[in-house]
Amino acid sequence: MRAYVVREHVVRDHGTTRSAKWEETADPSPPAEGVVVRVHAAALAWSDILQMEGTYAGEVPDSPFVSGHEFAGEVVAAGEGTTYAPGDRVFGFLSSPAAFAEYVAAPARCVRRTPDELTDTDAAVFTTSFLTADVALVTLGGLTPQRSLLVHAGAGGVGRSALQLARSYGSELVLATAGSPARRAAAQAAGAVATAGYDDFPDLVRESTGGRGVDIVLESVGGEVFDRSARVLAPMGRLVTIGASSGRPPQRLKLPLLWQRSISVCGVHIGRLLAEAPEVLEPSWERLLDLLSAGRIESEAGLTVPPSGLARGIEALRSRSVDGRVVIDFTRGVAV
Ligand SMILES: NC(=O)c1ccc[n+]([C@@H]2O[C@H](COP(=O)([O-])OP(=O)(O)OC[C@H]3O[C@@H](n4cnc5c(N)ncnc54)[C@H](OP(=O)(O)O)[C@@H]3O)[C@@H](O)[C@H]2O)c1
Repeated sequence: MRAYVVREHVVRDHGTTRSAKWEETADPSPPAEGVVVRVHAAALAWSDILQMEGTYAGEVPDSPFVSGHEFAGEVVAAGEGTTYAPGDRVFGFLSSPAAFAEYVAAPARCVRRTPDELTDTDAAVFTTSFLTADVALVTLGGLTPQRSLLVHAGAGGVGRSALQLARSYGSELVLATAGSPARRAAAQAAGAVATAGYDDFPDLVRESTGGRGVDIVLESVGGEVFDRSARVLAPMGRLVTIGASSGRPPQRLKLPLLWQRSISVCGVHIGRLLAEAPEVLEPSWERLLDLLSAGRIESEAGLTVPPSGLARGIEALRSRSVDGRVVIDFTRGVAV
């Protein structure tokens, strides 16, 4: 007899998100050092859409595959050697996609206990948004209250989290970009003191820093935005690149610029770090969970849809109309 009936979002062919369907599949069993989680919420990221379409600049899984990386829910089975038990609330990130399913099997190192402060919906979006932002700003960027910061795409998921963190860490000068006046207002509400568009941010940086340049840039848009960002850095400034939402990788950066202007460029991929060097992330987890329990940061979904509304979530991200992240609410049931 089957323990569960599992429905999951299967991508049969890359090329269009419409080729993916909810299908019934076999029960997962817990890996020896892992858990099976009944998924209550899963986060939809821009990179999930690109993986479905086969155009993601990082790893694209062979089809068929189940989409989704980030989830939150309740442990229903735990392998020996784990510290988890059925009923534990957990949230997690899978380095290979499989999270858009009613149940997922995950290695124990990929999940953490959900803090009481977080609902499942909010926990589902926490890792990608806040962990990425903290590692980028603090571990790589060397953020201190005195070092000025420019956050690109400040109304997006990672952008809003980065702005909240900068405010919590006492940053004195935080600038942001966004794609429209409404999005710039959202970035300002999240913690930016001044905002600009993707074309005119060099003017904002010049005016705000007295021509010196900005100390840290969190860059996620790519293309010309990346190229221009390298040129607004102050001496010893750091550009941390995490993605290319525009779909265009940086085109013009020539390495001699780094020594000519005494600047650094570095990058991070949170999924790879979670899989390959999770110990690097522990200081970030500690800081973030402290901020969370002190009520100084808020993880929140911008839009929640039922599994049947996944196409609506995809469209909302594509049209850049969501402030923050999109979450799929599995408690509302999956119809195959
Ligand atoms: N390296 C890592 O570990 C890591 C982790 C998380 C995310 N990421 C990457 O970081 C980026 C941001 O992630 P996110 O979850 O914050 O995504 P998101 O919520 O979808 O935000 C991305 C934002 O980028 C802006 N944008 C600017 N130019 C765009 C374009 N041509 N097309 C689409 N959007 C554009 C949009 O805001 P406006 O409309 O205001 O311009 C959009 O809301 C993505 O590229 C993602 O893949 C990387």
